[in-house]
Amino acid sequence: MSATKPVEFNNTVLRDGHQSLAATRMTTKEMLPVVADLDSIGFAALETWGGATIDSCLRYLNENPFDRLDTLKKLAPKTPHSMLLRGQNLLQYTAFPDDVVEAFCAASAKHGMDIFRIFDALNDTRNLKTAINAVKKAGKHAQGTICYTVSPVHTLEAFIKLGTELQEIGADSVCIKDMAGLISPSMAYDLVKALKSNLHIPVVLHSHSTSGQAAAAYYAATEAGIDSVDTSIVPFANGTGQPDTLRMLAVLEGHPRCPAYDRARLVALGKHFEKVYAEMSKFTSTANERTDTATLAYQVPGGMLSNFRNQLKEQGMSDRFNDVLKEIPVVREALGWIPLVTPTSQIVGTQAMLNVKFGRWKMLSQPAMDVALGKYGRTPAPVNADLLKDVEKKTGQQAVTVRGADLLQPGMEKLRAEVKAKGIEPSDENVTLYAMFPQEVEKIYKNKAAGIAPYDIAPAPAKKDSDKAKASRFALTLGGKRHEVTIEELN
Ligand code: CO
Repeated sequence: MSATKPVEFNNTVLRDGHQSLAATRMTTKEMLPVVADLDSIGFAALETWGGATIDSCLRYLNENPFDRLDTLKKLAPKTPHSMLLRGQNLLQYTAFPDDVVEAFCAASAKHGMDIFRIFDALNDTRNLKTAINAVKKAGKHAQGTICYTVSPVHTLEAFIKLGTELQEIGADSVCIKDMAGLISPSMAYDLVKALKSNLHIPVVLHSHSTSGQAAAAYYAATEAGIDSVDTSIVPFANGTGQPDTLRMLAVLEGHPRCPAYDRARLVALGKHFEKVYAEMSKFTSTANERTDTATLAYQVPGGMLSNFRNQLKEQGMSDRFNDVLKEIPVVREALGWIPLVTPTSQIVGTQAMLNVKFGRWKMLSQPAMDVALGKYGRTPAPVNADLLKDVEKKTGQQAVTVRGADLLQPGMEKLRAEVKAKGIEPSDENVTLYAMFPQEVEKIYKNKAAGIAPYDIAPAPAKKDSDKAKASRFALTLGGKRHEVTIEELN
């Protein structure tokens, strides 16, 4: 790449934009009027699918996610579409058998998904391999992901090693995914420079404006030779979302690599999204619109901070807010310095609350124990030996070193029979969605049979403040009792 080749922008407004700022509740109908315009701008990619959008379509919007993808592809045929995929976990919190992962990737490719951004919360590349192979087999672009985080073991060298590994296992490009908005401009410069000189595939930077650094980090990455950066469109931008496209153009104005996108069209797009944002006020929150540098002090994503406030309030623990924040690095260190991204953000957050409420490690959540036992994958650093001993004693299980999915039986055949038995057409689309969201898939087919079309059901209003954040439910069993914990979903 020549140093003066313009940096390209990917646009996230139809996925991360509303996931970060409006609880992922934008409907396909609200997108329709501007999809063709978005396609005409010339973005390197349009992020239209994946992350929490699949869950949200099924759970709240009575939409079949594959129908959304078909519609968006039809209206935006020129720009490559991209999606976010949680590696072996697909769009859920735990691993699926290889055959389910393969079938889902193949079905998504068949419906026109072009670029699959595949990540693993632990950065264990073994959890990306099946998805990468399936995407490549379908002739599509497999983007490997480095989940960026800050810890004593996440050094520049460690990230370069990870980037090299991703290239070796077949990634067509590498994305630095800074889901918490922690990357500083100087780190962005150093990391991009190092990856560009060590890899021969394109490098992409995805950040969030949470701490206010993303636009500056994008500028620094541009200087260092980044191929593309993720931007969104106001008001589904900035704050806990990506920097907005027009702002990024202003920041890069006069830079030899500043791209030429039609600003008048971008202004018009912003006007449409202003209207949509106003209509979605039930799901937006001023807390998400703000820049919050506290996220840097605690190395905790901003959204997670506001979510904690709500969670602690509900449990009558508001006065323990600072204790819980201080407990997060303790939990992360004990669990091998895992990054905070779905689902580890939920796991670490919940365990930190339990440690504060019941005493350190007195009450362990099942997912935290599973992380310690290696079921989610290889942790960046070893799990604390005393904690592991305690978990092994409690569960009567030994830590595993194999890939979690290697312990699973193939799933498609059994799932297909289940789907068929419920009177739903057992296509790969339905079966793989059902694997992830069984009740929700049943519900949308019941609605369909009853003649209830998408959008006939108004999106359910937020029940409480914590619902307003891009929150996700997380089941936790304590003393045999099941609790629903709501923790921020971070992608
Ligand atoms: Co993101």
